[in-house]
Amino acid sequence: MSTPTRPSQFPTATNPWDRAAAGYLTEWVPRFVPYHRNLISELALGENQKVLVVGAGPGSEALIAARQVGPRGRVRATDASEQMVALCSDQAKRAGLDGVIESAAGDVADTVGGPWDAVVSAFGLWQIADDARVAVVRGWGEALAPGGKVGVLTWGPTDTTGPFELLSASLREIVPSFRQTNRQRLAAREPMEQLFRDAGLSMVRLTVVRHPHHFSTAEQFVASLRDACTWRSVWDELGNETLNRVAASFYDKVGGPEAPLNFDPAATLAIAARPGEEVVLSTRTIVG
Ligand SMILES: C[S@@+](CC[C@H](N)C(=O)[O-])C[C@H]1O[C@@H](n2cnc3c(N)ncnc32)[C@H](O)[C@@H]1O
Repeated sequence: MSTPTRPSQFPTATNPWDRAAAGYLTEWVPRFVPYHRNLISELALGENQKVLVVGAGPGSEALIAARQVGPRGRVRATDASEQMVALCSDQAKRAGLDGVIESAAGDVADTVGGPWDAVVSAFGLWQIADDARVAVVRGWGEALAPGGKVGVLTWGPTDTTGPFELLSASLREIVPSFRQTNRQRLAAREPMEQLFRDAGLSMVRLTVVRHPHHFSTAEQFVASLRDACTWRSVWDELGNETLNRVAASFYDKVGGPEAPLNFDPAATLAIAARPGEEVVLSTRTIVG
């Protein structure tokens, strides 16, 4: 099912994620699925539960959540990009999960339809404006059912030798004045704890997960960022000539355009709940 609700906060034609959507699904989602699995597994969702997935993109984490809550559960997957919403709806149909997943246009702050047993945000926190983030997370907390959890995944802690960071460093070198979002600054324990505290929640788990990424060449990595992610807007803004210089500087750092890239970027997985509430999380067996 696909129910258009509030219109996206961006006009469709200018939302960079609309242009990136199809490429994001093929290029990036397969690399991100293991992180999504970690997030949903840590949340220990139960049968028949109700889950809100915000900034769901093409819905990989929504599909995993839908399998977890079963046919009588409900997952509402929202995104500001109409193209992402359409892809998510299509993915749900293909997986036979369209009876569980409702894919709808919506802002990250939109919690309509609650209360929710879990509110899930994968790789979207840094895209919320700094001055709006606490209010958005507070809204997620207020929309929780008793025993409900907020689960987030965000890139970081920073690995200064990783390709993402090396490309950003090249951009800083070639265009020092260009504004860059530090998408990883939220990833450490202290800022994450602080964010939840300011939003009236308690952090109940924080863990760092890593999964292997492979690109057959450094050129393929740059092309994936340009064509399947919001780097396309940076490219459009700065122009081919400048970005080719940035790419050349990046290739120097990683051993040339043909060099294969193998790395395992860290993502921080954090779960929060209302203070004093008992919540169920996954249990792990540790072998000492
Ligand atoms: C990096 S993608 C993550 C997609 C998906 N959660 C995943 O992990 O694959 C970020 C998504 O957030 C969406 N987004 C960005 N700002 C948003 C907002 N204010 N409200 C809703 N969605 C937003 C984008 O359209 C995009 O689909």
